[in-house]
Amino acid sequence: MSFTPLNDITSSRVTGGDGGFCMTRIMVVVGSVRPGRIGLPIAEWVSVALAGHEGVEVDLVDLAELSLPLMDEPNHPRLQNYTHQHTLDWSERVDAADGFVFVTPEYNHSFSPALKNAIDFLHNEWFRKPVGFVSYGGISAGTRGVLALKPVLAAVGLVPASVAVEIPFAARQLDDEGQFQPIEAQERNLAAVAEELVALGSALEPLQRRRVAQHAAA
Ligand SMILES: Cc1cc2nc3c(=O)[nH]c(=O)nc-3n(C[C@H](O)[C@H](O)[C@H](O)COP(=O)(O)O)c2cc1C
Repeated sequence: MSFTPLNDITSSRVTGGDGGFCMTRIMVVVGSVRPGRIGLPIAEWVSVALAGHEGVEVDLVDLAELSLPLMDEPNHPRLQNYTHQHTLDWSERVDAADGFVFVTPEYNHSFSPALKNAIDFLHNEWFRKPVGFVSYGGISAGTRGVLALKPVLAAVGLVPASVAVEIPFAARQLDDEGQFQPIEAQERNLAAVAEELVALGSALEPLQRRRVAQHAAA
């Protein structure tokens, strides 16, 4: 199977009015928040690679920096009746994204708890938007974590990409400066993830607009 190099992918998203070209805004989420995590250098590689693609804009979200408390909203997020500034800020940021890449470690055969918490805070902001995965861990390369993540995504209406970057023993790919050095197959797979996010983003956009219209009418 051949993949398109990241720089050759052309965003198919267009503005509704004049048919002109617009950016696809991808949020890259660092799922790990623990001191010494390798998730951050991996996410930095992901962000730089995605940002190198014409038509893609990247918002790198480090959940350690974002520092959301454990879910502390009294109302179901579907109501969007948020009571805390941190939730309003998170809502606005996720709303502004066209798609996501979740960079997640595998912890005890599941994904990171910080990522689950960040997802749980919101609902409509995720709805009918595409998400890709960069997973890592031991020999399983974080794949059991992504499997555990998928029912959660379905609950909030996120649409998963079918290709993923899976990195076994990822710590071995850090150089002396602590930067992640991808192998060629990982770069190719990341390009395929980007391509799918852009394609899914275009296909899902009318459904997102309908959701917004329904909410406005309610
Ligand atoms: C609490 C904990 C549980 C872990 N469980 C698994 C596991 O089930 N499978 C696996 O492959 N690696 C597991 N690991 C190894 C991590 O995937 C690996 O340490 C990775 O670097 C963690 O990501 P981070 O450094 O970004 O936090 C675990 C690590 C921790 C700290």
